[in-house]
Amino acid sequence: ARLAILLSGRGSNMLALAEAVRTGVLRGLAEVAVVFSNDPGAYGLEAAAALGLSTASLASRGRKREEFDREVVGILQSYRPDYVVLAGYMRVLSPTFVRAFAGRIVNIHPADTHQHQGLHAYEWAFDNHLPATKITVHLVDEGLDTGPILAQRVVNLEGAATLAEVQRRGLAVEHVLYAETLASLITTPILPAPPIPTHNS
Ligand code: GRF
Repeated sequence: ARLAILLSGRGSNMLALAEAVRTGVLRGLAEVAVVFSNDPGAYGLEAAAALGLSTASLASRGRKREEFDREVVGILQSYRPDYVVLAGYMRVLSPTFVRAFAGRIVNIHPADTHQHQGLHAYEWAFDNHLPATKITVHLVDEGLDTGPILAQRVVNLEGAATLAEVQRRGLAVEHVLYAETLASLITTPILPAPPIPTHNS
């Protein structure tokens, strides 16, 4: 399967996925078709290029969401991705984008998406002294972190004294869970439900 990986920042999940493609659970199952960023200066884009991956970017700053997304969809389609993999992509996707890749957009969120949506999930866990967080990989629909959950894994946060420690523990789990979940999605794709038979069929 061809993956388009989208990021806005550091790109540690992108690197973990690229490594899983090279030597891990995604080997022989997936290839990185492109790493795309809405920030041409994103560190993760540089890191992808340094690995020899194809990269593309389009600055989102000051752009209207729909219009920007239409252009991004065009760029991504030219790489013929089977899955669009969000890895720290800091944009809410417009309906135009979601419909263009319906059922094939995947995201990772550092908390249970039933309990926390949007930004700053690790800060939320740390500030509220949560004993654990639940990393969530889910399909993306038109809401913010509302799509069907594909996999979750609990991270023990007991004794984590700093936000950095919370993030360190969480990211280590993210990096493993994301690759494993994509591997099972690729091997056992989620098929659309068959139409309900009527009297006439
Ligand atoms: C991760 O915590 C991910 O769950 C969230 O954004 C962060 C991206 O980190 N959606 P990185 O750029 O992959 O290092």
